[in-house]
Amino acid sequence: MPTEIVTAAYIAAAALFVLCLGRLSSQETARTGNMLGVVGMLIALMATAALRGSGGTWMLAAALVPGAAIGAVVASRVRMTAMPQLVAILHSFVGAAAVLVGLATYLGPGHSGSGAERILHLVETYAGVCIGSVTFTGSVVAWGKLQGVISGRPVMLPGRHAINLALVAASAVLGVWFCRAPGAEGLVWVLAATGLTGLLGAHFVMAIGGADMPVVVSMLNSYSGWAAAAAGFMLDNDLLIITGALVGSSGAILSYIMCRGMNRSFLSVILGGFGTEGGAVSGGAGGTAAGPVREISAAGTADLLRRTRSLVIVPGYGMAVAQAQHSLAEITRLLRDRGVEVRFAIHPVAGRLPGHMNVLLAEASIPYDIVHEMEEVNGTLPETDTVLVIGANDIVNPSAQDDPASPIAGMPVLEVWKARTVVVMKRGMASGYAGVENPLFFRENTVMLFGDAKKNVDAILAELRAG
Ligand code: TAP
Repeated sequence: MPTEIVTAAYIAAAALFVLCLGRLSSQETARTGNMLGVVGMLIALMATAALRGSGGTWMLAAALVPGAAIGAVVASRVRMTAMPQLVAILHSFVGAAAVLVGLATYLGPGHSGSGAERILHLVETYAGVCIGSVTFTGSVVAWGKLQGVISGRPVMLPGRHAINLALVAASAVLGVWFCRAPGAEGLVWVLAATGLTGLLGAHFVMAIGGADMPVVVSMLNSYSGWAAAAAGFMLDNDLLIITGALVGSSGAILSYIMCRGMNRSFLSVILGGFGTEGGAVSGGAGGTAAGPVREISAAGTADLLRRTRSLVIVPGYGMAVAQAQHSLAEITRLLRDRGVEVRFAIHPVAGRLPGHMNVLLAEASIPYDIVHEMEEVNGTLPETDTVLVIGANDIVNPSAQDDPASPIAGMPVLEVWKARTVVVMKRGMASGYAGVENPLFFRENTVMLFGDAKKNVDAILAELRAG
């Protein structure tokens, strides 16, 4: 195929990727955004295959077909709550690919040129291999922590910042030796650097608590993009450079948005030590040192809902764990048919993934127009009859506003306590991700409905239907 056509195909694919990212920003357009991304990738693959001739097409097919089949099976089976670890392990593949492409480019026949051009090429190769290696081991460790294969506790070696700096400095020195080595004699240096940067990636992520892994995964997503862009430079492939840059920058923006939603600096996440005890039980159902709580039954909650004219539902991580969204959608339909104003309030970091709740609600076919952002709902809560908090904790914690000493002080929260009645559905008095107690549970207008969210939502639904 003429290179002009391949170039045109690459431009079309790049434009589709940009459109895809733009459309992923809203729930209504996300599906078409995904489709545009898929079409863009198909065009990119076909153009790349055509560029390589028939031999290349077969090689590409031999790698792609089994890879795509395995990917499709794994992705279709994974639970939403296990999505971060799937994403983490996929990033490790990008890192490994960047290392292998770097080594192959260095040893391959196309590795020529002289003077500044050669140095530039060597620097690209070296940077690609190092970023790829950090991404690979960092992502594998992140996967291990999220999967529970490795303990989620941060491993804080004495002098760990000095160790990291020493590894970076040693890799820089090896880089100079690599660029100075004639022919392919620099192989030993680049292999040594692969080992050192691999150690750096693993050590760096080991020091971060399991609970902070979603932000780390998003950061590794960014690294994997830069690794792909570096591979694009090595292979002289413009589309890979563009795609890598898109992934790299969107991953960095996502990490920033996640940190802002938690009111934490990126540096404080990287330094670790926050929320590492997440899920600690601060007392059994019935109350804690902070005082007794008022309990309600599923039948009592159904009764309350019958008397409610305006309802706000706040879903959180526990709803995702319990998979209560489908029964919740039934309750929503039933109440709306009875004339109740039902709205969902989504906190930017509810759950464990950006957009986690939106995906679950969309899966349960909850209409988009009743799903609102935190800012839209907060002002209307004083006029709201009832709030149902389903498996959420930190995102409705008033101490973020009232207690300057709280680890979540300053984090924007849903001010649910301003509504007439708040029903909190969770299994016991355990804390959430941040590991802090929630004074909301002890407020006068709060009632606790203890138990698995799915079982309780089903019980409320049955009561409402019966009534
Ligand atoms: P959390 O604060 O983690 O609280 C979830 C609550 O759900 C827990 O307290 C737990 O209490 C309850 N729960 C668990 N399983 C349940 C089940 N089967 N049925 C009923 N309840 C269940 O969640 P959140 O309010 O959604 O806040 C998210 C947190 O994650 C924030 O601190 C946020 O900063 C952090 N975070 C979010 C992200 C993103 S991007 N979303 C990324 C990193 C960190 P029981 O054990 O008592 O049931």
